[in-house]
Amino acid sequence: MSSSLPDPLLRVDNLVRRYGGITATDNLSMEVVPGELHAIIGPNGAGKTTLISQLTGQVMPNSGTIHFAGRDVTGLPSYKRSRLGLARSFQITSLLKDFSAIDNVALAAQAHDGHSFRFWGNARKETRLRETAHAALERVGLGKRADIVVSQLSHGEQRELELAVALATKPQLLLLDEPMAGLGVTESARMVALWRRFSSKTRSPALTSPASTKLRKGCLLYTSRCV
Ligand SMILES: Nc1ncnc2c1ncn2[C@@H]1O[C@H](COP(=O)(O)OP(=O)(O)O)[C@@H](O)[C@H]1O
Ligand SMILES: [Mg+2]
Repeated sequence: MSSSLPDPLLRVDNLVRRYGGITATDNLSMEVVPGELHAIIGPNGAGKTTLISQLTGQVMPNSGTIHFAGRDVTGLPSYKRSRLGLARSFQITSLLKDFSAIDNVALAAQAHDGHSFRFWGNARKETRLRETAHAALERVGLGKRADIVVSQLSHGEQRELELAVALATKPQLLLLDEPMAGLGVTESARMVALWRRFSSKTRSPALTSPASTKLRKGCLLYTSRCV
């Protein structure tokens, strides 16, 4: 009998990743359907980052398969998965601190979508690129902070900027590793509200792996041994 759920955007089957004698991912299977928001929780060393790295292609599994948007992407390099719409949030450390918020987003959009934007064009002068970047900033509530240099943004704003950088690549699935790290109560609540908006409005699911966060209604907790 056919299920009423839409086809999964992401399907992981029997994923295994070992580091020497350590099994970081122990036969994990999971599905993510468009529009869903998932959280993966576990203490340090549980294997959260290893899982995200396998989904994005930075780490190859020892066995098992990863299907994304109907394709087997298990052996596909990161940049090809990114083109298919699999985005991982970049860490704050990868933001260009001496550049403005909008410059950071524009450069990410340009690097990702080189065929639409002139790759060697000046990212500050391309109007369409600026508009795309501005729209991403608006979505995370940083529209009015577009011209502020990253080093002048608060920690919370930098985390939101990370999100805008990832959104500029128009992801179908957004993977966030420890997105609450270093955030206070108010900033954490804002971040959760942002994810909810993205996953419900755009039908673009988010998969997050906060080590310790309060799970809200609607988030799904995987309790597999390896996460
Ligand atoms: N590159 C690596 N080399 C060796 N061991 C690793 C490597 N990456 C992760 N591990 C080990 O795999 C396990 C899971 O790590 P990780 O995925 O970073 O967990 P988490 O993100 O949940 O803290 C840990 O025991 C860690 O020490
Ligand atoms: Mg980790």
